[in-house]
Amino acid sequence: MVAVAILAAGRGTRMKSDLPKVLHSLGGRSLVERVLHSLSEVEPSRCLVIVGYQGDRIQDALVEVIDRLPPLPDLEFVEQTQQLGTGHAVQQLLPHLEGFTGDLLVLNGDVPLLRSQTLKNLLETHQEHQNAATLLTAQMPNPKGYGRVFCNGQNLVKEIVEDRDCTPAQKQNRRINAGVYCFNWPQLEKVLPQLVANNDQQEYYLTDAVKFMEPVMAVDVEDYQEILGINDRKQLSHAYEILQERVKDAWMAAGVTLVSPDTIAIDDTVQLQPDVTIEPQTHLRGNTAIASGSRIGPGSLIENSQIGENVTVLYSVVTDSVVKNGTRIGPYAHLRGHVEVGESCRIGNFVELKNSTLGDRTNAAHLSYLGDATLGNQVNIGAGTITANYDGVKKHRTKIGDRTKTGSNSVLVAPVTLGEDVTVAAGSVVTRDVPDDSLVIARARQIVRKGWRLKPQQE
Ligand code: UD1
Ligand code: CA
Repeated sequence: MVAVAILAAGRGTRMKSDLPKVLHSLGGRSLVERVLHSLSEVEPSRCLVIVGYQGDRIQDALVEVIDRLPPLPDLEFVEQTQQLGTGHAVQQLLPHLEGFTGDLLVLNGDVPLLRSQTLKNLLETHQEHQNAATLLTAQMPNPKGYGRVFCNGQNLVKEIVEDRDCTPAQKQNRRINAGVYCFNWPQLEKVLPQLVANNDQQEYYLTDAVKFMEPVMAVDVEDYQEILGINDRKQLSHAYEILQERVKDAWMAAGVTLVSPDTIAIDDTVQLQPDVTIEPQTHLRGNTAIASGSRIGPGSLIENSQIGENVTVLYSVVTDSVVKNGTRIGPYAHLRGHVEVGESCRIGNFVELKNSTLGDRTNAAHLSYLGDATLGNQVNIGAGTITANYDGVKKHRTKIGDRTKTGSNSVLVAPVTLGEDVTVAAGSVVTRDVPDDSLVIARARQIVRKGWRLKPQQE
């Protein structure tokens, strides 16, 4: 039996942020959410999250994303009211794990790039050798800031010394502690009360527990990038680069074309089908899915949106929207706030759509704002058509039936309904409903006075 504890009580002073460190976002997921993701191969029987600084906020954030976490037992939140160190954090588990006889996997909440396979291997090694404790280590090219792990042959750990407590000679050791440990709980339980805070930070260090346990084994991770800890914004951005490389490599291997990948950003919550092409300077975020044959970019942002097959999006922003097969978006279009665009539509230059539904083969090709509108099939929105949806207090809907055409520069003052096969004359301000099969002209009649000219100025 394995219980998991995630240490997430610290503020993360070095982030210089009001937000608790483990809630900082890394490519669409918080650090602590990523740590929970790394448990997908572990199958723990308990999952305890130790929180302190803004603990409620961490709890709320995790509850919000619970549906996209791997299957885990219910999260148990344990409060560490004062943050007196990682050892003190694990001491808080004592009343909660009374009588538990299995292993405890401890993870730092700020180590977000771990692969689940790595944790599985660590547990297997731990159990195979029946170790008192097994910890993940890495040979770090730049070990500054990490605890150094000292072993005497056979990878058996003597002690772990924090960077700030190291002598200059000890600092030369590049083998670092990843902050990922497997403990035999009944043995750790006995050791925890013995920890003392005689170090530079006057904190109770979990790493000191290994001094009192035997055998403690260190297992090197193959790819040191997995165990990078996030303590400041610089490390956060470095981790982002690593994550992006992983995500993009995986999509290219799965048949997606990325043109100039360094200029593209893809959250790992995004889903792409084979034969999607992503052009330079394009960002794909959140709960976005793009179907086969679509070409997105250059210069586009798609967030929380579903894009069908063979869609093109050129220099445009699409958020919280659905775009169906064969539709062309852009250049310079903006879809936001629950837009649904049907099949084979064209949304062109400087068109903004908000909270609107468009049927199939409907076009709005130039200079329009359509807000809170429902359009049928084969509607043609003329250049410069605007729905006046806001009366200063409330928003109102505009409805436009199939095959209706609006003339250039027409204003549809909502609430208003245009029936099917309506033609709106250019420059009209439509304030009342229009029945099917009609022409509506709502503008001043043109007056021409033949032979009229300005009187010459009197001297
Ligand atoms: C820790 C390790 C270090 C290791 C490094 C790996 C200790 C003493 N040191 O150092 O050997 O190389 O991680 O990244 O463990 N936390 C609490 N309560 C506390 C203090 C911290 O929950 O009282 C949590 C933090 O929120 C964080 C994690 O524990 O998620 C690690 O704390 P941090 O202060 O970042 O430890 P490091 O100095 O990085
Ligand atoms: Ca850390």
